[in-house]
Amino acid sequence: MKKILIKTKNKNYPVFLGNGIFSSINKLITEHKLSNNIFVVVDSNLYKLHKKSIDQFLVNHKGKKSLFIFSPHEVYKSYLSLNRIYEQLIAGGFNRDTLIVAIGGGITGDLAGYAASTFTRGVQLIHVPTTLLAMVDSSIGGKTGINFGSTKNIVGSFYRPGFVLADMNFLKTLPRDEIICGIGEIVKYSFLIDDNFFDFIKSNLKKLYKLEEDTLNKVIENCISFKGKIVEQDELETSGLRKILNLGHTFAHALEVEQEYQIKHGQAVITGLSCALHLSNKLNLLNDDLLAKYLSLLVKFDRDIVLEDFETDVIYDAMKRDKKNKEEKIKFVLMKSAGSILIDVDADKDNVIYSIKNGLQYFT
Ligand SMILES: NC(=O)c1ccc[n+]([C@@H]2O[C@H](COP(=O)([O-])OP(=O)(O)OC[C@H]3O[C@@H](n4cnc5c(N)ncnc54)[C@H](O)[C@@H]3O)[C@@H](O)[C@H]2O)c1
Repeated sequence: MKKILIKTKNKNYPVFLGNGIFSSINKLITEHKLSNNIFVVVDSNLYKLHKKSIDQFLVNHKGKKSLFIFSPHEVYKSYLSLNRIYEQLIAGGFNRDTLIVAIGGGITGDLAGYAASTFTRGVQLIHVPTTLLAMVDSSIGGKTGINFGSTKNIVGSFYRPGFVLADMNFLKTLPRDEIICGIGEIVKYSFLIDDNFFDFIKSNLKKLYKLEEDTLNKVIENCISFKGKIVEQDELETSGLRKILNLGHTFAHALEVEQEYQIKHGQAVITGLSCALHLSNKLNLLNDDLLAKYLSLLVKFDRDIVLEDFETDVIYDAMKRDKKNKEEKIKFVLMKSAGSILIDVDADKDNVIYSIKNGLQYFT
């Protein structure tokens, strides 16, 4: 089992990565002196697929326990599910001495994490990410949150877990489109890190699809370590550094809203990266050769991500509601090259519309 330590100002927490390590969860809870009163939030699909090991965890757990199962959809990453969690916590007699265990993808982690940060002004939390996307991204860095109306992640908190346990065994049941979603965030990291990592991802894409163990191990560890380092320097997104992690996401979130969440987050990220590359090029930040080089990886997803239709103006309007905007201006994360990232870039509406049209053209 690998251990990657995330060091923040007030608290360090480990991320455990390995195969078959979920069976050690009770031992890790004890070792980390976490509460024995556990409230487990799990998504219904995952529970069906991994019932045996999750039930085993609960049977072996000696303290108080309660299981909350919900349907993992963006629509349910909302105050409605949150209310149900609070109701079950209160009905079960849970108080401040509670450990919420989030087992699932990013939706579960964001929802359960937000519940943990607010119930009795904060109870303990651990993340057990079970999608590739959640392992490389959403379980790391302490952002929690829910959607409200048509605005994504508009209500939330920064909340550190006691630990993160990423067991790659869970990934064996992950459907292909969810693997693509995880690869979407991995491609984002490759743009953020450097050309070497980008080249590695491009030449090992097939192995990633097949979840080939060594490749997967290396890639997940690199992504966690990279995000960990960014979070260590700018945990609360105050210095600006952490904003680089939003590369492609201003477009992606708006597309998710415009598509009424019929497109998955990780797929939207791939299309959003394409739009961000086009905008970077249009603003003369990224040269034509590099644009072609980086697009050559994104277009490989053209058969897996097919938008029936999209309305550019609706996407643009959704972008204007993005919580990262300042003074009513949309702020973009753009790039000069892999590893050379710019934040808070302004762009005219015409250029943004141009980038949406050009960025999405491969996925229609
Ligand atoms: N907090 C953050 O920093 C952060 C970062 C990135 C994304 N996010 C959020 O994460 C969410 C997306 O996360 P996601 O892609 O993991 O989505 P998800 O939680 O919806 O999971 C995707 C699907 O995979 C299924 N699933 C989960 N684990 C499985 C497994 N092992 N085998 C088979 N099926 C499995 C789920 O039931 C679901 O249908 C979005 O809401 C996004 O906003 C948050």
